[in-house]
Amino acid sequence: MRTQVGIVGAGPAGLMLSHLLHLAGIESVILECRSRQYIEDRVRAGVLEQGTVDLMIETGVGERLSREGLRHDGVWFSFEGRRHRIHLSELTDGRAITVYAQQEVVKDLVQARIGAGEPIVFGVEDLSVHDLDSPLPKIRYRMDDVEQEITCDFIAGCDGFHGVCRGSAPEGVITAYERVYPFAWLGILAEAAPTSEELIYTYHPRGFSLFSMRSPQITRLYLQCTPDEDLAQWPDDRIWEELFRRTRTEDGWTPGVGPVIQKGVTGMRSFVIEPMQYGRLFLAGDAAHIVPPTGAKGLNLAISDVLVLSRAVEAFYKSGRKDLLDEYSAQCLSRIWKVQRFSWWMTSMLHLFPGSDGFDHRRQLAELDYITSSRAAMTSLAENYVGLPLD
Ligand code: FAD
Ligand code: DHB
Repeated sequence: MRTQVGIVGAGPAGLMLSHLLHLAGIESVILECRSRQYIEDRVRAGVLEQGTVDLMIETGVGERLSREGLRHDGVWFSFEGRRHRIHLSELTDGRAITVYAQQEVVKDLVQARIGAGEPIVFGVEDLSVHDLDSPLPKIRYRMDDVEQEITCDFIAGCDGFHGVCRGSAPEGVITAYERVYPFAWLGILAEAAPTSEELIYTYHPRGFSLFSMRSPQITRLYLQCTPDEDLAQWPDDRIWEELFRRTRTEDGWTPGVGPVIQKGVTGMRSFVIEPMQYGRLFLAGDAAHIVPPTGAKGLNLAISDVLVLSRAVEAFYKSGRKDLLDEYSAQCLSRIWKVQRFSWWMTSMLHLFPGSDGFDHRRQLAELDYITSSRAAMTSLAENYVGLPLD
């Protein structure tokens, strides 16, 4: 089989890349090791930056997002029993975030691929990439016990943090920069109407917590926990008790309680590779970087990477230009490091670190007080939170 761009992974990065290439008249094939149902049910991110929303709408995959997405013009920070609102849109010329679950983005993009007659091959096994430094790289995999090979002009490694593409570059070509945090998030989905219309990030001496939502009927909540936390030790009653202790404010606000429909623990790391390219292999999204979830940036960064990549590939086919492909990595990394910094900063400000003392506690409170009272600080936070421009 032959295609122009072979895409490994049907997460947001791979699906959006295929969609953008299709709009530019470029053919691609997506190869995914999981089933369609699995990727459409996977509970993950929920916050879209303004640029992600605009891109989905402009490229014709934002119809349901426009209808069902919850636009938030503000975000709350809670500490010492009080909530403080940051008015995102007022501070950023009308930009905002939109709450719309990642699996809904995935469903909309899968639907668009299938509607356009573009192939997504689900359930591939033992995928590997070859001849990356040649003009015709290849993807090999097994499907229903039959070995398959696709010859491509380019391969996009959009196979997430645990994928195979990143490790296929020869030793020494790629450098990784990494921080692993000494805590994790216990996330739950509850059938409970959200009791706040906007997200609330809480700093508490017992640890961070986050109130979010998925719809007018579903609340999404997170609690800081240990990286090796045993879910069996967290029956629903204990989760609610801990959420109440951390999130209750002086005015009596608490999250609404309801049946817990999903639970999971997510580890936290910052990770970036440089460069994001080897020969004709281009890495995008979580395959190239991970941010701690506190800034809600992972999905959005995946989308901004593939926008840059699609433009570079389009310039190659339309006018034979190779310069944008050569600049792909540097152009993405300049944005990635700014987003990495923001995510690290939000994480450091809001979490309890093992061994922290009264000095750290007071410093964190002072920082929270500053970012919720200084217009300059609020503007900086808002500008990053709604998303730096996708230029
Ligand atoms: P992925 O979504 O991981 O997709 C990679 C795909 O490749 C997968 O479908 C995988 O099955 C497939 N694959 C892997 N290996 C192979 C292989 N060998 N062969 C074929 N296919 C393969 N981000 C935000 O922006 N906002 C948030 O609010 C947010 N919250 C989060 C909350 C949680 C609990 C978690 C876990 C993440 C969160 N993120 C958030 C991060 C976000 O989910 C990821 O950054 C995003 O999924 C990255 O997309 P991707 O397409 O690069 O990778
Ligand atoms: C959600 C996840 C995040 O990481 C975040 O910062 C905000 C919201 C969410 O899943 O709703």
